[in-house]
Amino acid sequence: MYPLFRSILFSMDAERAHHLSFKAAHAAHKLGLMPKVQIQSQPYQLMGLTFPNRVGLAAGLDKNGEHIDVLADMGFGFIEIGTVTPRPQDGNPKPRLFRIPEKQGIINRMGFNNHGVNTLLANVARSHFVQNGGILGINIGKNAITPIENATDDYLSALTSVYPHASYITVNISSPNTKNLRDLQQEDALDQLLRALKTRQLELADTHGRYIPMTLKIAPDLDETQIHAIADLLKLHRFDAVIATNTTLDKSSTEHLPNGNETGGLSGAPVREKSTAVIRALHGLLNNEVPIIGVGGILNGQDAQEKINAGAQLVQLYSGLVYRGPELVRECVQALR
Ligand code: FNR
Repeated sequence: MYPLFRSILFSMDAERAHHLSFKAAHAAHKLGLMPKVQIQSQPYQLMGLTFPNRVGLAAGLDKNGEHIDVLADMGFGFIEIGTVTPRPQDGNPKPRLFRIPEKQGIINRMGFNNHGVNTLLANVARSHFVQNGGILGINIGKNAITPIENATDDYLSALTSVYPHASYITVNISSPNTKNLRDLQQEDALDQLLRALKTRQLELADTHGRYIPMTLKIAPDLDETQIHAIADLLKLHRFDAVIATNTTLDKSSTEHLPNGNETGGLSGAPVREKSTAVIRALHGLLNNEVPIIGVGGILNGQDAQEKINAGAQLVQLYSGLVYRGPELVRECVQALR
């Protein structure tokens, strides 16, 4: 069925197609036309959590947690919602989402468009997935108007709000679409941020009587020295996992194609090798002290296996769903079984 839907969706503006697909999926879900996909898999333990399978949804597809139950029925082992910021914000002007079908790529400059943390939490409370014990990651970021020097305040505020409602929390410092955000990956800034977040996480664990793991999501556009520094800080501040990677700013493989040189982050097949290289480098440096969640350019089961072979323990997907449809989830789970 998906190839048919895809040709209709691909004839529309990408963001409109996104909203329309979810409208259709919600309608089908309500009418019971979308049976829950059952995928046989061995449960997998990581970060103190038991994942029904190793294939998750990457952040950005469901920024407000509006579609959790529809997505859960696709068979994901875990779902990451967000990025959410403390306060609502519009994001960048449209158009801001572009397909590059010749390369199975996507460029986005959404800019953390979201309804803010309170709305997201109301949506989470309504979802059955969470009530039924599904693994829900909540990905947090900073508001665009918050000066970068005060970024820590936004992360601490978001962490505090989402803490009791998440299975794990992802600290996103790697979107290329919020001005200067990636500067937080620099050693001194990162040291301060991770220290503050770890201190707050432990305080919250005390307050709520429950330790919620915290992961850091990083960019693929890092040199060896930067990866080294990040690996050291992840170990020093005892982060529970690292998610590698976000989208790339390198458009060398797409710039000659329609939409291929749009401003924003490039995902899908063109980021696959870069993200796998970061995973491999991290794996060599982290000595299994900090687990890796691999994401970037998974378009088939073999790509998922490549991430695991490079040192990832879990994988996530986003762009592959646009090109392959929900069947990709089953293919990846089966490839990793
Ligand atoms: C993203 N991604 C993303 N990541 C994140 O941490 N917070 C976010 O809000 C978003 N938003 C977002 C929007 C769109 C339209 C895309 C395509 C991607 C990045 C995403 O989670 C993932 O890390 C990369 O896209 C690489 O994986 P794929 O897409 O190649 O499987």
